[in-house]
Amino acid sequence: MTGPSDLAAPADVTAGATADVAARATAGFRSRYAAEPAGRWAAPGRVNLIGEHTDYNDGYVLPFALPLRTVVAAATREDESWTVCSELDDDPVEFGPDAADEPGRVTGWAAYVAGVVWALRDAGYAVPGARLAIASDVPLGSGLSSSAALEAAVLAALVDLGGLDLPAEKQPRLAQRAENRYVGAPTGIMDQSAAIRCRAGHALFLDCRDESVEHIPFDLDDAGLAVLVVDSRAPHRHADGEYAARRRSCERAAAALGVPALRDVAVADLDAALDRLPDDETRRRVRHVVTEDQRVLDTAALLRAGRVREIGPLLTASHASMRDDFEITVPEIDTAVEAALAAGSLGARMTGGGFGGCVLALVDAGRADAVADAVRDAYAERGFTAPGTVTVLPAAGATRLG
Ligand code: GLA
Repeated sequence: MTGPSDLAAPADVTAGATADVAARATAGFRSRYAAEPAGRWAAPGRVNLIGEHTDYNDGYVLPFALPLRTVVAAATREDESWTVCSELDDDPVEFGPDAADEPGRVTGWAAYVAGVVWALRDAGYAVPGARLAIASDVPLGSGLSSSAALEAAVLAALVDLGGLDLPAEKQPRLAQRAENRYVGAPTGIMDQSAAIRCRAGHALFLDCRDESVEHIPFDLDDAGLAVLVVDSRAPHRHADGEYAARRRSCERAAAALGVPALRDVAVADLDAALDRLPDDETRRRVRHVVTEDQRVLDTAALLRAGRVREIGPLLTASHASMRDDFEITVPEIDTAVEAALAAGSLGARMTGGGFGGCVLALVDAGRADAVADAVRDAYAERGFTAPGTVTVLPAAGATRLG
């Protein structure tokens, strides 16, 4: 997996990137195992257009897949064990059923692979033993869901190699279990759903309660627009602990309000609900989630109507809500959003779990370079490490490459 320097300069990342990373995965397989892989499976990173920290509140999200992908080259083996190597690590990791069946036994990047094997076995599937080699263009630790891309690519490979009866719409929940239970990260269902279910040229409108989806056309070229992604390069500060704390706070608030999840609080009832909560911090957390769900619904409605330019203010309002009410932004992120807006973006917001990661800005296509320059200048003025920038188009979810 490559570092965030991949987001070094504004560039359109195209399907060509997939060909390159697939070749690297194949080369890794050949050199490690002195054999040919039976196939290659790819899954993308994602950005979330809008709907942050709504997924674990049973709410709505609207991510799209990036043209940056993780590729797994793989083949079955006779015995029931798994060997996995990565272009980022000289040492392969090997584990058998004992380690696969005990969450936490395999650690580091290979835990995502072992977690998928665990989740499949735990659900009763006969997982074939396999050799796997991984290569990726999804930057690590930048909030673009490199972990979900890895889980989704490994899952696609094992399902195909084993002929397992596990349709794509059931795969996100299984990959999420791998991350929640084996790796131990209490994330929602958004990232795995995006990695598996997205379609090229579309945003994925997902109801996280029943997992129903709608693929909404998101044709940036047609609208003369671009999405600029800015890697803030901010070091993740306490991201795991703060994420878990936000989740607990939401769950406590739902219990206090007597609803199954915060999704069940309608915007029209928000003020009355806030009056029933014990403290200001909890009130702000709830206000973020409830208004964010509404912003997702409003954004989806505008996209359905082909009014893409008009979603900008909703993106910017989402950012303000994350900054002021949910308190998950950091100075680098706020600087990038402010500079992007000042340079003429139609809207801008942090994307992902927060405390670092990426910002996305909706810009007129011809302005992408100027906005990227403005963000870099603002960073330089404040003495921050230079950000990475790239323009992206909505890409496809997990797939077999051949
Ligand atoms: C991370 C998690 C997701 C989601 C987002 C915030 O990306 O993995 O499940 O909660 O944060 O929207």
